[in-house]
Amino acid sequence: MSQLENISTPPVITIDGPAGSGKGTIAKQVAQQLGWHILDSGALYRLTALAALQSNIAIDDIATLSHIAENLDVVFKPDSIYLEGKEVTLAIRQEACGNIASKIAAIAEVRAALLQRQRNFQQAPGLIADGRDMGTVVFPNASTKIYLTATVEERAKRRLNQLKQNKISASLPHLIKEIQTRDARDMNRQSAPLKAADDALIIDSSDMSIEQVVKSVLQVCQ
Ligand code: DC
Repeated sequence: MSQLENISTPPVITIDGPAGSGKGTIAKQVAQQLGWHILDSGALYRLTALAALQSNIAIDDIATLSHIAENLDVVFKPDSIYLEGKEVTLAIRQEACGNIASKIAAIAEVRAALLQRQRNFQQAPGLIADGRDMGTVVFPNASTKIYLTATVEERAKRRLNQLKQNKISASLPHLIKEIQTRDARDMNRQSAPLKAADDALIIDSSDMSIEQVVKSVLQVCQ
């Protein structure tokens, strides 16, 4: 990147990590504290999955899935998400939707269709980008890269609490299995697999509070 480009481009902090590692919560709080924009890239894959489900599109219909991803009519509001004018904030959080999102996220054409839409979020004064490939593929020049992780058991417990808050029922053993399957799929796919960027700081949040993680991220940015 040239020096001029560096000066005029709004800064990006990327937060990548596996399912349930708390990226969303941390990204939100860091964005609030800094007054920066936020990109929930997982929501874009979930929205593509929901749109495909609603239109009965097969998981191997790559052309139609890519078309859906490229043309998503989505509005992000501070606490809600709209797909084609309909609120889908809770619908996209269902585990079924997350699992299909993980499957279609392995399709290179779908990832390519969502790439520019994600980069468009890079606006002043800055962006916190949450996902799986934010630091490796979407924003390789990000000023700060974090890889947030935690044990599978801890992540499943957090997911259970999150789902309970949203009045969605689930069982812990079932969630552990689902998270393990999703981790394996996200980490082993050929296109933009989940991994820490070489220059990312790895934070294991298993024994940390949300406040402690937010503090660590803010310290790294400074
Ligand atoms: O973060 P999440 O659980 O909302 O993401 C749902 C799925 O989307 C996840 O299993 C993998 C995929 N995803 C991805 O491949 N790349 C991203 N940057 C974000 C999410």
